[in-house]
Amino acid sequence: MSRPRRLRKTANVRRMVQETILRIEDLIYPLFLMDGQGQKEEVPSMPGCFRYSLDLLISEVKQAGELGIPAVALFPVIPESQKDNFGTESYNPDGLVPRAVRAIKQAIPEMVVITDVALDPYSSEGHDGIVQNHKILNDETVAVLVKQALVQAEAGADFVAPSDMMDGRVAAIRQALDSAGWIHVGILAYSAKYASAYYGPFRDALDSAPKFGDKKTYQMDAANAREAMKEVELDVLEGADIVMVKPALSYLDIIHQIKQATNLPIAAYNVSGEYAMIKAAAQQGWINEKTVVLETLTSMKRAGADLILTYFAKDVALMLRG
Ligand code: PBG
Repeated sequence: MSRPRRLRKTANVRRMVQETILRIEDLIYPLFLMDGQGQKEEVPSMPGCFRYSLDLLISEVKQAGELGIPAVALFPVIPESQKDNFGTESYNPDGLVPRAVRAIKQAIPEMVVITDVALDPYSSEGHDGIVQNHKILNDETVAVLVKQALVQAEAGADFVAPSDMMDGRVAAIRQALDSAGWIHVGILAYSAKYASAYYGPFRDALDSAPKFGDKKTYQMDAANAREAMKEVELDVLEGADIVMVKPALSYLDIIHQIKQATNLPIAAYNVSGEYAMIKAAAQQGWINEKTVVLETLTSMKRAGADLILTYFAKDVALMLRG
């Protein structure tokens, strides 16, 4: 008689037949940074996540490196006074992000540094692009994104990660990087990025919520799967090195479908709202945080994610080390 339970008999047997293995190498640690010295502010809707001033950011990145986490993704908090409709501060070579990249590369040269390419942290309108008459301009925005990516490459970023969802930005950035000689700077493209309420806590963290409307004219409709395939296909043709699905948990089917369609590595973004839900329930004592986190991230890998951006990165690295 066939008895599947034979393979679940003991911990060692289960270990032998385990299909999906979450590794520390799969983790990318997203970090919020702000100007200042010796400052660390907890994000209220993301308990355990902080905005770090540069000096403290470096020690956080060092710790991550010591735990074996190979990569960090940086997101800046920009003061309102430096924001405008054109996201001008996004391509200031002495801005917060370029300074952070240089500091990390100096202190922890082997750490892979991924920088976000999008205008929203820098936009007085809280949108990912330039606004005109309540519309988000595409090609004009792409021109700014290109400048932003070049400044980040110059500072030493290993991957630039366009999260804006403007059309044609991957091709434009690839071409500009190549012409400037940054042929080894990669593009991690937010290819299937959905207009999601799960980004709420992140917008609190950066104070970057849209001042009017929503992001539905550029981010995708949660109801669409085939459109995700089109977005991925375009980003692959345009020169992406890694494609991303975001959010992750409600989009495991999308990750799975993309896995069948591309040979590129796939990243999944375990976003702020997914983090907040687990933290909130755990704080109430309603779920076991550690096991839920491992189960959640394992499901993302099982669906087909090769890499996972997660605010739990340090916790998971500690758990995986045992
Ligand atoms: C914006 C951006 C967002 C996130 C990463 N980059 C939010 C948005 O599109 O409004 C969300 C990440 C998270 O929720 O953890 N370019």
